[in-house]
Amino acid sequence: MGTPNRIENLMTDKGSVPVYTTAVVEQPWDSYTEQDHATWRTLFQRQRELLVGRACDEFLASQDAMGMTEAAIPKFAELNERLQAATGWTLVGVEGLLPELTFFEHLANRRFPVTWWIRRPEQLDYLSEPDLFHDLFGHVPLLMNPVFADYMEAYGKGGVKAHAIGPDALAQLTRLYWYTVEFGLIDTKDGLRIYGSGIVSSKGESIHCLDSAACNRIGFDLERVMRTRYRIDTFQKTYFVIDSFQQLFDATGPDFSPIYARLAQQPSLPAGDVQAGDRVFQKGTGEGWLNDGDV
Ligand code: PHE
Ligand code: FE
Repeated sequence: MGTPNRIENLMTDKGSVPVYTTAVVEQPWDSYTEQDHATWRTLFQRQRELLVGRACDEFLASQDAMGMTEAAIPKFAELNERLQAATGWTLVGVEGLLPELTFFEHLANRRFPVTWWIRRPEQLDYLSEPDLFHDLFGHVPLLMNPVFADYMEAYGKGGVKAHAIGPDALAQLTRLYWYTVEFGLIDTKDGLRIYGSGIVSSKGESIHCLDSAACNRIGFDLERVMRTRYRIDTFQKTYFVIDSFQQLFDATGPDFSPIYARLAQQPSLPAGDVQAGDRVFQKGTGEGWLNDGDV
C-alpha cells in the first residue's frame, strides 16, 4: 500500500471549506519525518505541562495508562492493544474529515477514526480541522474510561438515528457532541476540570475555559445544550459542566425522538445566552465576543 493522502480543508476566497473522505488507511508510521515527531513532542510537552490541575484526572491517567508519551508519534497498533483490552475500542486511520454518517457508523461500532497526519510547524497554535494531535492526544485517552467509552458508542448509534430523522435532529445532536466531547468541563472535588478534546488540544483554550471572566460556565442540561448554537472559529462563549461521566451517560440514555420533536417547536439559543433556569457557575462578562458567527 502506498502512502495515504493528506486531505486538508481547501482555502478558497470564501475561507476554509472542508473536504470529506471515507477511506480507512494503515498508519504510514515510517513516513513521518523528524519534523512531524518534533511537532508531536512540542505539543505533547506543552499541553501536558499546562493540563496538570486543569484536565480531569481520568484524562491524564488514561493517557499514561495507554502508553501515549512525548517520545514520538504513537503507533496506532500499539495503542490499540491497550485500548482494546480496556474497553474494546479500536483506532482506525483516516485521511481527513469523514461525512457525518460514516463517522457515526465508526463510533457505533467502537471504532475511533484518527487522522494519520500531523499539522505543519506554522500551525502549532491553530488549524481549522482535526489532525493527528487533536484526534489522538485529545480524543483517544478518555476512550480508556468505561463509562465515557459507552457514551461514545451510544452517541454513534444516536447519530445514525438522527441522520435518518433529518437535519434539525442532526444539528441538535451535533451541539451535544460539541459541548461535551469537544468542549466539556467536569466539576470535581478539586474544582472545574477539562475533559473536552477541543480544549485539551489547544493551549489558548485550555487557559481561557477555566481562567477567563469572559465566558459562561453553566451546568449541563441535555435540552439546554441541544438548543445552544456554538462557534467554530473563536473560543467558546459558553462551556457546559457535567458532574460525572455517569451523569452524561444517564442523561443521554432515553430515546431522543420526543426531544427532537419538542425542540423543533423552540428557537435555538445564541451561544452566549444565560437562561432563567441555568445552573450558573460563572456568568461571563462577554468581553471580546463577536456578534456574528454562531453555528
Ligand atoms: N439516546 C439517544 C437517542 O435515542 C442516543 C444518544 C446516546 C445520543 C448518547 C447521544 C449520546 O437518540
Ligand atoms: Fe474533535
